[in-house]
Amino acid sequence: MAGLFSSAPKRVKVVEVGARDGLQNEPDNVPTHQKVALVDALSEAAIPQVEVTSFVSPKWIPQLADAVEVASKITRRAGTIYSALVPNMEGYERFREAGLDQAALFVSASETHNKKNVNKTIAETLEAFRPVAEAAKSDGVPLRAYVSTVLGCPYEGAVTPQKVRDTALALLDLGVAELSLGDTIGAGNPASLERLLDAVLRDVPVEKIALHLHDTRGTALANVVVGLEMGVTTFDAAIGGLGGCPYAPGASGNLPTEDLVQLLHGMGVETDIDYEKLIEAARLARRLVGRPLPSHMLAASEGPRGVPPIHG
Ligand code: HMG
Ligand code: MG
Repeated sequence: MAGLFSSAPKRVKVVEVGARDGLQNEPDNVPTHQKVALVDALSEAAIPQVEVTSFVSPKWIPQLADAVEVASKITRRAGTIYSALVPNMEGYERFREAGLDQAALFVSASETHNKKNVNKTIAETLEAFRPVAEAAKSDGVPLRAYVSTVLGCPYEGAVTPQKVRDTALALLDLGVAELSLGDTIGAGNPASLERLLDAVLRDVPVEKIALHLHDTRGTALANVVVGLEMGVTTFDAAIGGLGGCPYAPGASGNLPTEDLVQLLHGMGVETDIDYEKLIEAARLARRLVGRPLPSHMLAASEGPRGVPPIHG
């Protein structure tokens, strides 16, 4: 009899978002050189894609006002893709100045969160992306895009899979190569994620889908397993479980990267990530923010005898 997970992919791409999703949400500003050190530690762990920072308005997100400086000071590892958030043309100009590899657009599936987050309706946001998409195309810059609040909005509650699908298709029309579905407030569970993916995958090839699962209710890893079963091969995660969205009340940390990698490696799914160096990066992240982080594997690595990773 075929095993329950026999159809799960054998290789997965992990996209590290802690330096952006995590540090945008920290009350105390992390100094520029420490941000650079964190990104470099993530590169050392051989993570294939690292979101470095965000070219949003420094008035809205002062924590990442040093985006260009951070991007210009990191050490680029061959084989790693370095990306950053871009909300509009002004952000794209700063992105170009910084010379990163991939720009990431973002829009919500729910109007209220979108308005609070970027001060525009969903339609206006998509319109503002049009010149960015054109410039990126002519510059040969690949685009990722997030759809946020896909499994629940902090202001409106339920969000229909249809709304997510429509937003995803509008982004694909702009030429986006990778679509990250964001459970911004960790509202999803395996059943609601399955319903969402059923709807989205009718029109969007699974190779283009990434899952960005905040772990507010401790359901992120269970949701990863559903994603794997449904053929998703790209998962976002944040070192140590950093993360949140300042304009989404209740959005706490992302899925900790080391917990995700531990699960994947344990199931025999390759990531090419160096797990020991990942734990070192998680320790550094904890030092930079100066508080305990919600990572299981970080805590386990420091237990009385340590907990070694389980390999499949
Ligand atoms: P606005 O105030 O409506 O912008 O903000 P505006 O176009 O009216 O411009 C006002 C001022 O901002 C002007 O400066 C512009 O130059 C400046 P002033 O004339 O007043 O001196 N400005 C900029 N400066 C630098 N870079 C820019 C930029 N754009 C305008 N790119 C805006 C609109 C979109 C800029 C603002 O609302 C914003 O920056 N929002 C970002 C909010 C944010 O970063 N949220 C968190 C990220 S999303 C997230 O975390 C979810 C995700 O993780 C997925 C998930 O979990 O679901 C991705
Ligand atoms: Mg997020």
